[in-house]
Amino acid sequence: MFVWVLNCNMIATSLDVAVIRKDFPILKRKVNGYPLIYLDNAATSQTPKQVIDVIVDYYSNYNANIHRGVHALSQEATDRYEQARHKIQKHFNAAKPHEIIFTSGTTHSINLVANGFTTLLNKGDELLVSAMEHHSNIVPWQMLCERTGAILKVIPMNLEGELIMADYHSLLSPKTKLVFCNHVSNALGTINPIEEIIEAAHRVGSAVLIDGAQAAAHIKPDLRKLDVDFYTVSAHKICGPTGVGMLYGKEAWLNKLPPYQGGGEMIAEVSFEKTTYADLPHKFEAGTPNICGGIAFGAALDYMNQIGFDAIASYEHELLVYATEQLSQIKGLKIYGTAVHKTSVISFNIEGLHPYDIGTILDKLGIAVRTGHHCAQPIMDFYKIPGTVRASFSFYNTKKEIDVLVNGIKKAQSMLQ
Ligand code: ALA
Repeated sequence: MFVWVLNCNMIATSLDVAVIRKDFPILKRKVNGYPLIYLDNAATSQTPKQVIDVIVDYYSNYNANIHRGVHALSQEATDRYEQARHKIQKHFNAAKPHEIIFTSGTTHSINLVANGFTTLLNKGDELLVSAMEHHSNIVPWQMLCERTGAILKVIPMNLEGELIMADYHSLLSPKTKLVFCNHVSNALGTINPIEEIIEAAHRVGSAVLIDGAQAAAHIKPDLRKLDVDFYTVSAHKICGPTGVGMLYGKEAWLNKLPPYQGGGEMIAEVSFEKTTYADLPHKFEAGTPNICGGIAFGAALDYMNQIGFDAIASYEHELLVYATEQLSQIKGLKIYGTAVHKTSVISFNIEGLHPYDIGTILDKLGIAVRTGHHCAQPIMDFYKIPGTVRASFSFYNTKKEIDVLVNGIKKAQSMLQ
């Protein structure tokens, strides 16, 4: 049986979860006659009323297009949007506000960089990808390799779901031009040693992109300290709205990459003979952006910072320890992803049962989990399984909800077996 030990350097905290839960209107609803137990936070987190209020305020009071109007509403919307960019810059400790590019989310951010590298790679250059990536951090690079003749190599992982760092170091060479890896695995919860990954890649002259989609809800990364070249985030995983996120890029890299999309806003001057491009960040922000989304992204960071990332991480770790202990006692249940460093994500299967069937019965009991390959098919191939049931916990979840999950799984087991 796999038993977790509480990380001794984690301070026990007392989040007032009962009070926090009141911020989330959706947590009051019932599903199939049962109180909702939302354990699909790795797919998307829920939205507090403080962020919902910002969205309502935008559309009720100052909805206008930005960067192009002299009228009051446009100025107001522009100011709030740019204030959000500053907030995001400060939160992630980027050196300059224009190193924060608003995108529609992590997938868009990665595609932007992959597209930009088309002109910077030569046939035979090597790209390193970790074995535990989401499809969004695999496919754009495969497409880049098809365009350029570069070669994609995989950093392997072990059965615990940890990268084999010795292999990573041997794969690095002067041919390596880019390394990309998630900060936290969506399917396993593993927190990857990105400091070591970045440092080693830089020693051979390679750039590094870290997909922070699953990390930003649990960890406040200091991008300047990490010295990472690119970092991506989706707002909807951190209490913000869908359809907005960021690409962080070091100024020098963003200046080197060509624009991703052409259109309004991203130009300096246009004529039929020649077009010149705007400076950062606008060079990468063609068209009318998700204005309200960007402002709400900033509000979501305010909300989470008010609770505090140390308190969030510590409480979620407590939930992880408790859930791991409880789930491990279920006969036939196997957990995938037992890394020493992981976030509050538990992927599991039950001997003889299909994950989809378990998820369907849990849903009937009002419990939301994700089932399937979690857009990480190479991980499922590695474990030779079709998929898993994934319960992912947030700071508004409780141990009581974990107890209900455990009982629900037992019920599903007795119904299906
Ligand atoms: N990438 C999201 C997940 O892991 C959707 O569920």
